[in-house]
Amino acid sequence: MKNHLDLYATGAQALCDLGVKEIPKTYVQPHHQRPNSLNIVRGKQLPLIDLSRLCGDGRNQVMEELRFACESWGFFHVINHGFPQNSMNAMMEVGRQFFELPLDVKMRFFHPKPTNVTHYGGSFSSKDECVSNWRDYLVHPCLPLSDEIVDTWPDLPPRYREIAKEYSKNVRVLALKLLALLSESLGLRESYLDETFKGHVQLMNINHYPPCPQPDLTLGVNGHTDPNGITILQQDDVAGLEVLKDGSWYAVNPVPNSFVINMGDQMQIISNGRYKSIEHRGVVNSEKTRFSIAAFCGPSYHAIIAPAAELIKQRPDQSAEYDEVVYGEYVRQIYSKGVNGKYYIDSVKIQKK
Ligand code: OGA
Ligand code: NI
Repeated sequence: MKNHLDLYATGAQALCDLGVKEIPKTYVQPHHQRPNSLNIVRGKQLPLIDLSRLCGDGRNQVMEELRFACESWGFFHVINHGFPQNSMNAMMEVGRQFFELPLDVKMRFFHPKPTNVTHYGGSFSSKDECVSNWRDYLVHPCLPLSDEIVDTWPDLPPRYREIAKEYSKNVRVLALKLLALLSESLGLRESYLDETFKGHVQLMNINHYPPCPQPDLTLGVNGHTDPNGITILQQDDVAGLEVLKDGSWYAVNPVPNSFVINMGDQMQIISNGRYKSIEHRGVVNSEKTRFSIAAFCGPSYHAIIAPAAELIKQRPDQSAEYDEVVYGEYVRQIYSKGVNGKYYIDSVKIQKK
C-alpha cells in the first residue's frame, strides 16, 4: 500500500488538497492541446431533445431533431426522459461521498494494470498517457448486473451498491428507449440496435475533477471519442465538457435534470458514418470541483458490429464505410493504445480507391 500511496501523491485530488500553486510538469499539456480560450465557443447550446413530445403530433419533429443532432453534433441534451430524479440525485451524492473517503479505502480499488472490474484511477494510474489528466475516477461494470459484478463494487459509502444498482437499472431503461428511437430515426426496425448489442455491456464512470490552480495548462480529460454505443452522462452544474465541432471546441452549458447523450464509435459504424462519434474533452477550473457520471452503453463484447445493410443500400454507391469489428477486440485495441484523441475508428474505415 505504501507504494500506491506514493503514486497517489501525484494524483489531482492529492495535489489540490496540498494546495499546490503550480501543477507538476506531468500535467502540462503541449501548447496545441491546451484549452485556448480563443478557440472555445461559448453560449451555444447543444441540441435539446424533449422526450415528452414523442407522444402525438410532435413525434416526427422529434425524430427530425434527433437525426440532425446525431448527424451534425453527435451530441444532444435529453429532457423529460423519465429517469427518476431521486435516483439521479442519489447517485451524484453517493459518488461524491466515495471521493471523500480516506485514501486507503479508495486505493483498495486501484489496479496497476487495465482491468474489467471496479477500478479507482487517476493520473497516478495512467502510465500510458503522455500527459496526466487533472481528474480521479471510479469505473465499474454495471451490466450484466450479476452478484459477482456487484461484489466488486465499493461497499463504502454504505449505500453505494444499493444506489448504483438502482441507477444502473434506470440507465438501462433509458438506454433501451434511446436505442429504439435512434433505430427509428435511422429508418431501421425499432429493435435493430437492441438486437445488435445483444448482451449489452454497461459501464459506469464517475469523474471527479478537483479545482486546479492552472486550468489553462491542463485538461480534466484529454480529447477522445467514446468507443462504445451511446454514452448517457449526468453532470453537475459546473461546466467543463467541450465538444469539437467544425474545428472549434464548444463549451457545453449544463442543463438541470438533463442527460448529455453522445454517439460512440459503434454508432458511427452501424449508421455507416451518418451518426458521428465526436471528439470531446473535459476542462477544469480554479474554483470548483466538478462531477460527472458517464454510463457507457455498448454491445456485448462478442457482438459483431458492422454498418446496417439497409443503410449501405441507401447510399448512391451502395458501399460500406467500415469493416465489421468484434466489439471486445475493438475496445482491447483502444485500451492497449491509450485514449488520446486519435481516431481509432479510422483504422477500421474501408479505404476507397
Ligand atoms: C468520459 C467523458 C466528460 C465529462 O468520461 O468519457 O467524456 O464531462 N467525460 O466528464
Ligand atoms: Ni467521453
